[in-house]
Amino acid sequence: GKVAVLMGGSSAERPVSLMSGEGVLKALRSRGVDAHAFDPAERDLGDLKREGFDRCFIALHGRHGEDGTVQGALELLGIPYTGSGVMASAVAMDKVMTKRVWLAEGLPTPRWRCLSTEEQGRDIVREVPDALGLPLIVKPAREGSSFGVTKVRGYSGMQEAVTLAAQYDPDVLCEEFIDGDEVTCPVLGEGEASAALPVIRIQAPDGNYDFEHKYYSEDTRYLVPSGLPENEEREIQRIVVAAYRALGCRGWGRADLMIRASDRKPFLLEMNTSPGMTGHSLVPQSAKAAGISYEDLCLRLLAGATL
Ligand code: DAL
Ligand code: MG
Repeated sequence: GKVAVLMGGSSAERPVSLMSGEGVLKALRSRGVDAHAFDPAERDLGDLKREGFDRCFIALHGRHGEDGTVQGALELLGIPYTGSGVMASAVAMDKVMTKRVWLAEGLPTPRWRCLSTEEQGRDIVREVPDALGLPLIVKPAREGSSFGVTKVRGYSGMQEAVTLAAQYDPDVLCEEFIDGDEVTCPVLGEGEASAALPVIRIQAPDGNYDFEHKYYSEDTRYLVPSGLPENEEREIQRIVVAAYRALGCRGWGRADLMIRASDRKPFLLEMNTSPGMTGHSLVPQSAKAAGISYEDLCLRLLAGATL
């Protein structure tokens, strides 16, 4: 039957989604799937049903795509889709809710303070850094691709960082900075059948893996195999699978972590339930290292499409 690749959308990550979607569309077509691009920012999702689509590959990122809203609409339309369901998508989109779930499960995540709009107006310039230490990370609670993220190095940078993050989300997450190795690890499957792919170690210039270094720069190094000691690689995979299952994810996901340099302790930062599939993206690189081509990965995710 006809497959819609949902791509574009209305979030700040629209340009990234268009790149992901192009890759997925091409891959599915190359394997004989009758796949068509469908942009929810330009079309009514109800058209999916009217035009006879019987499955969706979700290549949307961020708000109204990765956050359970589109998933909910597809549930109502009765059209199976790739990736996590409504609840896991909604929780994972919110980094604060995600942390609460992980903490309840005894999973390690950096200490944080979440600032509501009201709290942002109070004197937080000293209070938050005094609680979390400096430097610290300020980011929107629900956003992707590093939009609105600042590494704050002193009290004087605090207000500007919070104002920037608040442009993307009313809730601003201030997070303890973990100094060490930046790693990411994808998971495929569901429940007890969830399995981690190889860990990727990311080396961006000056440790600054921002939007530019994520999608456009050729200076970022992606190490896969990670070069981490075998026991660390295994421990990260174990934690990431537990983090994925705790959120109730299915299909696929990718957790981002930091490994603290001082004691090699891993900390979970977030779970992406609709990870990037661009030419620079991480899941395809990790899958490739596990012997799964980009095309096979897309087919496998599509085969798992469900309601
Ligand atoms: N949010 C981007 C697409 C990613 O995590 O890959
Ligand atoms: Mg993310």
